[in-house]
Amino acid sequence: MRALPITIAPSILSCDFARIGEEVRRAEDAGADWLHVDVMDGHFVPNLTIGPPVVAAIAKVARVPLDVHLMITDPWTYGPLFAKAGAHVLTFHVEVCPTPEKARELAAHFRAAGVKQVGISLNPDTPLERILPVLDAVDLVLVMSVFPGFGGQAFLPDVLAKTRALREHGYAGHVEMDGGLNADTIPRCAEAGCDAFVSGSALFGASDMRSTLARFRELARAAREKSTHGR
Ligand code: DX5
Ligand code: ZN
Repeated sequence: MRALPITIAPSILSCDFARIGEEVRRAEDAGADWLHVDVMDGHFVPNLTIGPPVVAAIAKVARVPLDVHLMITDPWTYGPLFAKAGAHVLTFHVEVCPTPEKARELAAHFRAAGVKQVGISLNPDTPLERILPVLDAVDLVLVMSVFPGFGGQAFLPDVLAKTRALREHGYAGHVEMDGGLNADTIPRCAEAGCDAFVSGSALFGASDMRSTLARFRELARAAREKSTHGR
């Protein structure tokens, strides 16, 4: 099977919100493949971030695809608004779906709203079994390696077993890891089968984002080459 290219997605949650446009350009100039946009509603997670108008403003200046991560209780109502605002990848959390059928309906609802790639995410304490019946309806699985809500938390290594199991199941779409990624944790994720890597604090906090991002990409590529789980 052909390997998916390594995708590095800086999370704008860690950018300077007073200068979002410049921060978007800084991440793109550093080599970002996607821009990860964390949407929080104060219900699904204990934090509030940004809504569709800000995503639309980012989409106006961005040159790379927006990877929008909805940490919200009601993606049925708000998902289409983020699609319209310019989300390229739109990811919902399986925890808000009472049944696999509901998750499939939600993926179809996002596609009907014009989304190019639909993602499904699961929290560190949600078993992989919750998403297995829905895999054929999505393009991406976003594995949370921290409990969602805040940037700058420590990576939870137990979640790597889910990534390995996904690849063992033959899942060939994107597997994206989110939370606590840096030069130590990225190789472990790549070895386990991840092809997409979200990084907030480690990239926006780096003194040289370009060389840090290039190093992350090279570490992921080298680790994947050695691995039997890489795609
Ligand atoms: C956490 C968010 C992450 C976060 C990652 O709720 O989903 O995308 O911004 O930030 P770092 O890389 O700092 O853990
Ligand atoms: Zn995220």
